[in-house]
Amino acid sequence: MAIRRNTGFAAAFLTTLLISASSFFVNADRVDYPSAAYPPNSWINVPVFDFSFWDSAGIRPILITGTFVCGFHCSNLQGNCLFAISIFQINTFDANSNSSPSTKIVWSANRNNPVKFRASLQLSEEGDLMLQDLDGTLVWNTNTTGKFVSGLNLTEKGNLVLYGRNNEMVWQSFDHPTDTLVPGQALVSGQKLTASVSTTNSSAGLYSLALINDSLIAFLEPDAQQVYFGPLKVEAHESGQHKVVYMNGRFDRFVLSPASASQFIQLGSDGHLRAYQLKESKWEQVSDLLINYTGACGSPLVCGEYGVCSDGYCSCPKAESNAAVVYFRQVSENHPDLGCKETISVSCKPSDYHSHSLLELKDFDYFYFVPHIENANRQKCKEACLKNCSCKAAIHRQQINSSVGYCFLLSKIFSFKRNVDNLHDYNSFSYIKVQNPPIFRAYRPSKGHMKAILGSTLGPILFILLVVVGMFSLWRNKNDSKDDKKEPQKYGRLRFTRFSYDYLCSMTENFSVKLGEGGFGSVYYGSLPNSTKIAVKRLDGTDRVKKSFLAEVETLGSVHHINLVSLIGFCAEKSHPLLVYEYLQNGSLDGWIFSRNPVCTLSWKLREKIIHDVAKGLAYLHDGCDQKILHLDIKPQNILLDENFNARLADFGLSKLIDRDQNQVLTTMRGTPGYMAPEWSSATITEKVDVYSFGVVILEILCGRRNIDRSQPEEEMHLLRLFTRKVEEGKLLELVDKFSEDMQSNGAEVVKMMRIAAWCLQPDYNRRPSMSKVLLAFAGYSIVEDNLSYDFLNLQAPRAIATPSNRAGTTTLALPSMLSGPR
Ligand SMILES: *[C@@H]1O[C@H](CO)[C@@H](O)[C@H](O)[C@H]1NC(C)=O
Ligand SMILES: *[C@@H]1O[C@H](CO)[C@@H](O)[C@H](O)[C@H]1NC(C)=O
Ligand SMILES: *[C@@H]1O[C@H](CO)[C@@H](O)[C@H](O)[C@H]1NC(C)=O
Ligand SMILES: *[C@@H]1O[C@H](CO)[C@@H](O)[C@H](O)[C@H]1NC(C)=O
Ligand SMILES: *[C@@H]1O[C@H](CO)[C@@H](O)[C@H](O)[C@H]1NC(C)=O
Ligand SMILES: *[C@@H]1O[C@H](CO)[C@@H](O)[C@H](O)[C@H]1NC(C)=O
Ligand SMILES: *[C@@H]1O[C@H](CO)[C@@H](O)[C@H](O)[C@H]1NC(C)=O
Repeated sequence: MAIRRNTGFAAAFLTTLLISASSFFVNADRVDYPSAAYPPNSWINVPVFDFSFWDSAGIRPILITGTFVCGFHCSNLQGNCLFAISIFQINTFDANSNSSPSTKIVWSANRNNPVKFRASLQLSEEGDLMLQDLDGTLVWNTNTTGKFVSGLNLTEKGNLVLYGRNNEMVWQSFDHPTDTLVPGQALVSGQKLTASVSTTNSSAGLYSLALINDSLIAFLEPDAQQVYFGPLKVEAHESGQHKVVYMNGRFDRFVLSPASASQFIQLGSDGHLRAYQLKESKWEQVSDLLINYTGACGSPLVCGEYGVCSDGYCSCPKAESNAAVVYFRQVSENHPDLGCKETISVSCKPSDYHSHSLLELKDFDYFYFVPHIENANRQKCKEACLKNCSCKAAIHRQQINSSVGYCFLLSKIFSFKRNVDNLHDYNSFSYIKVQNPPIFRAYRPSKGHMKAILGSTLGPILFILLVVVGMFSLWRNKNDSKDDKKEPQKYGRLRFTRFSYDYLCSMTENFSVKLGEGGFGSVYYGSLPNSTKIAVKRLDGTDRVKKSFLAEVETLGSVHHINLVSLIGFCAEKSHPLLVYEYLQNGSLDGWIFSRNPVCTLSWKLREKIIHDVAKGLAYLHDGCDQKILHLDIKPQNILLDENFNARLADFGLSKLIDRDQNQVLTTMRGTPGYMAPEWSSATITEKVDVYSFGVVILEILCGRRNIDRSQPEEEMHLLRLFTRKVEEGKLLELVDKFSEDMQSNGAEVVKMMRIAAWCLQPDYNRRPSMSKVLLAFAGYSIVEDNLSYDFLNLQAPRAIATPSNRAGTTTLALPSMLSGPR
C-alpha cells in the first residue's frame, strides 16, 4: 500500500515531540506498509516513515491491509496511546485532500490501560505478542508463548491474526471484540461488546451486548442485572455453535442498508447499537439497531441516575401530590440527560429511618431484573425498602388481574421510564427513598421553651398546682387498679388502644429516637408491627402534666376529624403516662413558613389550603363535637402536616372541655405569648381566643415570618404593628412573603386573605367571627365586616392593662424562637 507523505505537516510540532525525527525525513516520501510480520520483531511508538498518518490521525502504523491499519493510536500529546486497529478512508491520507481524518478504531488491545510515547510492541521469538509501556511494564499480551507462532497478519476483514507453523490460527483479535463489529465478524456465544465510557474516553464503560448461549442480551454492567434488551434468541449455526455474524446489510434479524462503503456497528457509550457508514469522508449513522425493541427511553442511563425519561425527554422525579418539595435537581442544567441528584442525601442509619419517606411515582417503570420479593403487595414492598438501608428505591409491578405482584429493591438507581402508552398488562409503581429535610421533621426539639412558658405563666402555675393535686390523686387511684397487660388492648368503646409500657418500649426501641421536647415532655419516634409510624409523647412526671394527660386522652378519644392529629392510643401505667399519636411526615408548619430554604417555600395554593384546613379543624373543635373544645394554643408549631400537606391541629394538652351552654369559662392563663388574645388579661375567655390566634397564624403564613421576629429592624419587629401601619399606608402588598415568587405573583389574593386575618384579630372579641363564619367567608358566602379595627394589640375595654401579647414584645421575654409551645 502506497501512501504519500503529507507535505504540510508541522515541523515545529514534530521536533518538540520527537527525539530523532530528522532521521525519518530521508525515506519519508513514499512508504509501503506490510500486512504481515514475522518473529522476532518489535516496534516503538514514535512516528516513523509516514508523517501523514501521524499528522492527521495520530497513528503510528505497523501493518496495513485494505482500509484497515494496525498500530499505535495516540489521542493527545500526553501520550494516551492504544495498540489498535482502525478503519480509514484511503483519500484521508492524500496530501491533496483537505478533509479531516476519518479513522475509527474498531478494536484495541489496551483500552483500559493507554500507553505513552516510546512504548513498544514485541513479537517475541517464543511467539508472544506483547505491549510494554515506556517504563517496561507489561500492559497486554496474547499469552501465546510456546505456541510456535510463525507470523502476524492483518487480514482484509480487519482481523489481527497470529499463525502457527502450519498456518493454523493461534490467536485472533476477532475473539476479543471491544465495542465494535466489522463486516464478516461474528459475535460468538460467550463473547460480548462493551461500550466505551464516553465518546472521548475509550475505557470500558457500563453497557454490554452479549451472546449468552443462544440469546442476544444487552445490559448494564457490572452486575448484569439491568437488562434493557433481550434476551433475543438467535438462529443456530451449522457448527452447532451459536453466533451472530455481521454480514453486509444484516446482523441476525436486524436489517441494515447494504454497505456502499466502509461500515461497522458499534455499541455506543449511551447503550445504543448503531451502524455507521462512510459518506463523504464522514462516518454517518445508518441505523439504530435496538431502538425498535427498546424505544426512545430504552437504555438504563438514558436520563442519567435518578433521571426520568418520558418519550425520550429527561426530567427529575417530582412528587405529584406534594409540589412544595424539590427532592431532586439536575446535575447539569444544560444537560438533562446527565441525571439528577438528591437535594438532601439519604443517610443510612437505623436511627434515621423515621426521616425517610418514599416519593411515589405512579405509572413509572424501570428495567427488568430479578425480583427480590414475589407475591408482595405494594405496602409490603414499600416497608421492605424503608427497613433496608441499602434500598434506594422500590419498584412494584403487578399484573392487572392479580392482587399481589413483584417487588424490586434497588441499591443503585438508573433512569426511570414514564409509562406513556400504557401498553403493559401490569401496573407499575416506583418509590424513591428520600430524606426529609431536617426542618420538616415533626416535633422538633425546641430547647428552653419550658423556661419561657414558666416565665410567662409563673403566677398561674402556682394556682394550677393547687388545683391539680386533687385531680392527680384521683388519677393515681383510677390507674393503679388497672392491670398491666402486655399486649395492646382496645380501650372501651373509644377508637384508640391501650398499650403497655413494655410494649411501647420495644416499639420505640427503648425510646432511642427522640423527635423533640416540649413543655409537657419528650416525643419519641416508633413504629408499630404493621409499620404505622408513631410519635410517642412521654409526659414528664409533674402534676401539671398529669392533668393535661387526662385532658388529652379524654378529649382526643372522642374527637375525630381529618384536620386533627389522631391519637392512636395511650399508656397509663404507673409513672409512665404516654400518648401515642400518628406520626406526620412533614412536621410542623413553622419549619415551612419560617424557612428561608428555597427547597421548601410553599406555594400560595398550598398556604391557602393549610389555612382552610386549620380553620376546618378549629371549627370542628368549636362547633362540631358534643362539647365545645377550646384549643387555647393555636400556633404554627402545633399545626402538623402530613405527606400530602393536609394540616392537622396537634396538642390538645392545653385545651379544656367546656359545656356548649356555658359560653364563658374562666381558665388559667394558657397559650404562647404572641398568639394570645388581648382579653386573656380579662376574665372572659371564649373560643374567640382561638380565632385571634388563628388570625396571627394566617398573617405569619402569608408574610412568611414570625409575629415577633427579632432579626428584623426595630420598627418591623412586630408583625401586627407593621400590619396596622401597612394598612394605614395602603401598602399591604409589601407584607407578602418576599421569599416566594409564587406568593408575590398572587399578591391580590393574599391581600384578600389578610382582610380575613384582620377580622379574626379584632381586639373586641365580640366582633371576631366564629370559625364557622370564617369558613363561610372562605367559601365566598359571608362578607368581611367593613369598619374593622386595626389596633389589634389593644383591649378596647376601659381597663387597658398590659396584655400578654404586649409583654411578649418587651425584652424581659425569651426570643421568639424559644417561644414555641409545649411540643
Ligand atoms: C499472512 O500474510 C502474508 C503476507 O501478506 C501472506 O503471504 C500469508 O499467506 C498470510 N498468511 C495467512 C495464513 O494468510
Ligand atoms: C493473558 O493471560 C493473563 C493472565 O492469565 C490474562 O489476564 C490476560 O487477559 C490474557 N491476555 C489475553 C489477550 O488473553
Ligand atoms: C476514562 O474512564 C475511566 C473509567 O471511568 C477513568 O478511570 C479514566 O480516568 C478516564 N480517562 C480519561 C482520560 O478521562
Ligand atoms: C448456558 O448453557 C450452559 C450449558 O448448557 C448452562 O449451564 C447455562 O446455565 C446456560 N446459561 C444461561 C444463561 O442460560
Ligand atoms: C425498525 O422498524 C422500522 C419500521 O417498522 C423498519 O423500517 C426498520 O428497518 C426497523 N429497524 C431495524 C434495525 O430493524
Ligand atoms: C436490601 O436491599 C438490597 C437491594 O437494595 C437487596 O439486595 C437485599 O436483598 C435487601 N435485603 C433484605 C433483607 O431485604
Ligand atoms: C383479566 O381478567 C379478565 C376477566 O376475567 C380477562 O378478560 C382478562 O383477559 C384478564 N387480563 C389479564 C391481563 O390477565
